[in-house]
Amino acid sequence: MRERCEKRNFAGIVGREILTLSCVDSTNTYLKNAALHGAAEGTVVVADAQSAGRGRLGRSFQSPAGKGVYLSVLLRPSMPPERLLPVTALTAVAVCRALREVCGAEAEIKWPNDVLLDRRKIAGILTEAVMPQEGKTCLVIGIGINVAQTAEDFSPEVAALATSLRMQGKEISRETLVPPLLARLDEMYEALRSGNLQPWLAEYRRRCATLGKPVRLRNLAGGEETARAEAVDEQFGLVVRTAEGTVKTVRGGEVSVRGLYGYTE
Ligand code: BTN
Repeated sequence: MRERCEKRNFAGIVGREILTLSCVDSTNTYLKNAALHGAAEGTVVVADAQSAGRGRLGRSFQSPAGKGVYLSVLLRPSMPPERLLPVTALTAVAVCRALREVCGAEAEIKWPNDVLLDRRKIAGILTEAVMPQEGKTCLVIGIGINVAQTAEDFSPEVAALATSLRMQGKEISRETLVPPLLARLDEMYEALRSGNLQPWLAEYRRRCATLGKPVRLRNLAGGEETARAEAVDEQFGLVVRTAEGTVKTVRGGEVSVRGLYGYTE
């Protein structure tokens, strides 16, 4: 495994130390392990390829060499766990901001945190927690952005749902995308620590492609129901109205959105 470690002297936190690997099983797995061995807050691990990239809900994340941005960030927040709940949604907004900055693309967000271009998934986020010692939670935020893939780089199942910057006519190098992404993530962490989340929530709501659409909810026990997505609440939960008229707030599980990939009648 070829590796390069860069220490940067700047006022922010995210990206103070950047470890670049040629190939790793998963940058999240690597960084969770490093967190248990004392890696510094703000450490970023970037890989050219992942042999076992992981997604939400136990799925895999296809990570062909040189085609995408695959990175993870380590945070050691000292705040109550309930204040950390929006971190993945906030990260989705940070990814959208970075994409706009590098190529003018206005991405959307499929609740809770898939980033879409042209109604297909361009980026995914997997946040995991580790507890190196009692009462101290570390967060590892993993981000995968499809940059230079063509349809042939994805498996047929993923090709039906995914896109890349290249497939959207945007020829951006991975190296161009990473610095603005880290800068936006640093701003996101500052907002999380200060509690000034309103601008982020407003942007999340504006970009949320799920709102106003019929959705199919699948809970963690495998049950399914249909509803309409009506709002995103202050904690980034999805407020839905079921066919029977009951209003409830969804905070996890799987939500398919009619009109977006992955919703089959
Ligand atoms: C999802 O779409 O379900 C989340 C995908 C997250 C993928 C990124 S790539 C970098 C980091 N390492 C991983 O193994 N997963 C995340």
